Amino acid sequence: MKNSIEIITASPEETIKLGEKIGSRLRGGDCVAFKGGLGAGKTTITRGISIGMGLGDEVTSPTFALVNEYRGKGTSLCHFDMYRITSYADLETTGFYDYMDEDAVLAVEWSENIESALPENPVVIEIQRIDENTRKFIIAGDERFDDIGN
Ligand SMILES: Nc1ncnc2c1ncn2[C@@H]1O[C@H](COP(=O)(O)OP(=O)(O)OP(=O)(O)O)[C@@H](O)[C@H]1O
Ligand SMILES: [Mg+2]
Repeated sequence: MKNSIEIITASPEETIKLGEKIGSRLRGGDCVAFKGGLGAGKTTITRGISIGMGLGDEVTSPTFALVNEYRGKGTSLCHFDMYRITSYADLETTGFYDYMDEDAVLAVEWSENIESALPENPVVIEIQRIDENTRKFIIAGDERFDDIGN
């Protein structure tokens, strides 16, 4: 049984800080699989991940593009929105499989929709909306994040 940890944030800013800590610990080839409904905070935490990876804070929702890429000197971040992806053919059009072969970090919103296509050992981050400004993040599948709430 793999560990899972729970962290509560009380504002988008706190969520970005959490994302920064996660981003600073990610490596090329990692896949972060987000679960959680509309407005949960998937894009917000991805903004923090980008900052933590040294790729800046200009992260926007990949709703229309399906994938946004953030590149810098080191590892790139590929940010997907799988909300409208319902088949393998759809998934192929996002270039997901090509990105999987790169040494990038993949951050996947609506990973529920492509569960069986995810790479092995994703970092699964489930987000629960507690109330307007409170979110619970449950991070499973990776010992690297065990002390992230400290
Ligand atoms: N603690 C919190 N953490 C993150 N976002 C919060 C928090 N409290 C309130 N919010 C608000 O919730 C919304 C989160 O939006 P965001 O785009 O990150 O969600 P999402 O999960 O990516 O949604 P979608 O499925 O539509 O892409 C923002 O409007 C943000 O201001
Ligand atoms: Mg989003």
